[in-house]
Amino acid sequence: VTSLLHLDSSPARDSVSRQLTALFADTWRSRHGSAGYTYRDLAADQVPLVGPAYCTLGQRVIARGLIPPAELAALMESDAEAREWALTWPLIDEVLAADTVLVGVPMHNFSIPASLKAWIDQVTFPGAFTDPDIHDSLLRGTKVVVVTARGGAYGPGTPREAYDFQMPYLRTYFSGLGVQDLHFVHAELTRAAHTPGLAHFQPQAAHSLAAARDAVITLASRLQAAPDVVNQI
Ligand SMILES: Cc1cc2nc3c(=O)[nH]c(=O)nc-3n(C[C@H](O)[C@H](O)[C@H](O)COP(=O)(O)O)c2cc1C
Repeated sequence: VTSLLHLDSSPARDSVSRQLTALFADTWRSRHGSAGYTYRDLAADQVPLVGPAYCTLGQRVIARGLIPPAELAALMESDAEAREWALTWPLIDEVLAADTVLVGVPMHNFSIPASLKAWIDQVTFPGAFTDPDIHDSLLRGTKVVVVTARGGAYGPGTPREAYDFQMPYLRTYFSGLGVQDLHFVHAELTRAAHTPGLAHFQPQAAHSLAAARDAVITLASRLQAAPDVVNQI
């Protein structure tokens, strides 16, 4: 079964990133059915911050050389470590099981929301995505689609281009995990209609949203190879 892991991280009721990831998921399900679909709402169901036991266990795994997660139970030295691993492993397993990972990401203070960062820290346990035999990434064949929503505009040539710590961070993160099939879709100027100083950007905002909708439908239906970065104003 083809599988999709859908993550959302916006706390907003009128979230634009959620609207776009839902459109992706609907398009994907109409093609592949619901059997392989998994949803996780990181804003509503928050992943805890990593604690001391996570650090201790992670350091022990690194010191031993990376070991398969299934063998990790033998390395536990406390109940706190076992509890931490019981939180971490299901998150890792969801990513490993997914052919496609879809991530909805609001821009918060030029970067990603804390709820998504908490998930990233928890799921990126040492060796979790590395094949212990050949020391290569287990995510080389995984497709990752990141859908961002921003109140402003950060595309090439805009005054705030250098303020974008959201896409560069996520690109570095997923590439670092070994993901090769990585796509970004941006809806920009999402606050134009509600922010007096940005009101004159409403046409660009509408254009950005329409282009983002087209891009997620294209990516979800794989009708054609999509460009790496689409729709940035
Ligand atoms: C806590 C918070 C911080 C934000 N920081 C920024 C920011 O730094 N730059 C920006 O362009 N928009 C910022 N915004 C606006 C959001 O990026 C915008 O509302 C976007 O649509 C959020 O995605 P969502 O609609 O899926 O929630 C911020 C919004 C919130 C709630």
